[in-house]
Amino acid sequence: MKAFKMVRSLVIGLVVTQIITWVAPVVLADDLTKPTVLITGSNRGIGFELARQYAQRGWGIIATCRTPEQADALQNLALEYSNLVIERIDVTDFDSINTVAEKYRGVPIDVLINNAGILGDNDKQKFGTFDFSAFDEVMAVNTKGPIRMVEVFVDHVAASDMKKIMNISSAVASIQMTFGGQVFYRASKAALNMSMRTLAKELRHSDNPEYKALIFGLIDPGVVDTGFAKNVPIPMIQADESAAAVIQVIDSYDRKTSASFLRYTGQKMPW
Ligand SMILES: NC(=O)c1ccc[n+]([C@@H]2O[C@H](COP(=O)([O-])OP(=O)(O)OC[C@H]3O[C@@H](n4cnc5c(N)ncnc54)[C@H](OP(=O)(O)O)[C@@H]3O)[C@@H](O)[C@H]2O)c1
Repeated sequence: MKAFKMVRSLVIGLVVTQIITWVAPVVLADDLTKPTVLITGSNRGIGFELARQYAQRGWGIIATCRTPEQADALQNLALEYSNLVIERIDVTDFDSINTVAEKYRGVPIDVLINNAGILGDNDKQKFGTFDFSAFDEVMAVNTKGPIRMVEVFVDHVAASDMKKIMNISSAVASIQMTFGGQVFYRASKAALNMSMRTLAKELRHSDNPEYKALIFGLIDPGVVDTGFAKNVPIPMIQADESAAAVIQVIDSYDRKTSASFLRYTGQKMPW
């Protein structure tokens, strides 16, 4: 009888732990009426500021990064805000994307922000000495990763109230405004713009009514002092200012402006 009771309490304990594990990802925001946002590359730079400012708003945040164990600032943010959880996603590692999507299956994600990005080595993208393995790397992070994120997380976003898929693009993606240099980076962000605009149009005609309602965004965050771009001859803005403006632009996106390319100021960017 004693042994039976012990086994019974062990089983109950295991079941309760399992239920907590299942439920835990759902209980993100302090206030459950608040939306949820998932951000890639949120351990530093603009991504970190986006996570911090959404946390202040009381939203639920799935803050993803490549190496959570080294993300000290983000770990501290998670200690400060119980509405922020950290998950590992390397956008070039599709298994890591699938694992997080599976963990949050059934959890609506109001805003997915494809923020992670790399510039790539400047010297490797100069005419005459192109290093095409560097091109593959830049495309993998800036273009393929975001496309895969959309494919894997589309049902989470479609199940939400806001249904927004937002992408941190760049002014240098503008074909009209190009003045040369950084061929790989420019190409990767122009390809990001084209991919997301194409997906927006394609899904608008989907048989799935929830996909039809998805809102896509392409946002230039400004020239931001994050260490991303070095020796830039124009004044930079700080990451907190950029993130605050980007969040306003994200708020402003609706079905009418879906798939347009906007500056952090809200102005339309030329393609
Ligand atoms: N700063 C600017 O002036 C500027 C201008 C226009 C557009 N942007 C765009 O804004 C976005 C954020 O840039 P930032 O200025 O904040 O740059 P940043 O400070 O260099 O941050 C880049 C972020 O992307 C992450 N990342 C890189 N490769 C990744 C991968 N394979 N998987 C997941 N995460 C990865 C980095 O993580 P690790 O720490 O692990 O490397 C880091 O968190 C980028 O898309 C960039 O192209 C920036």
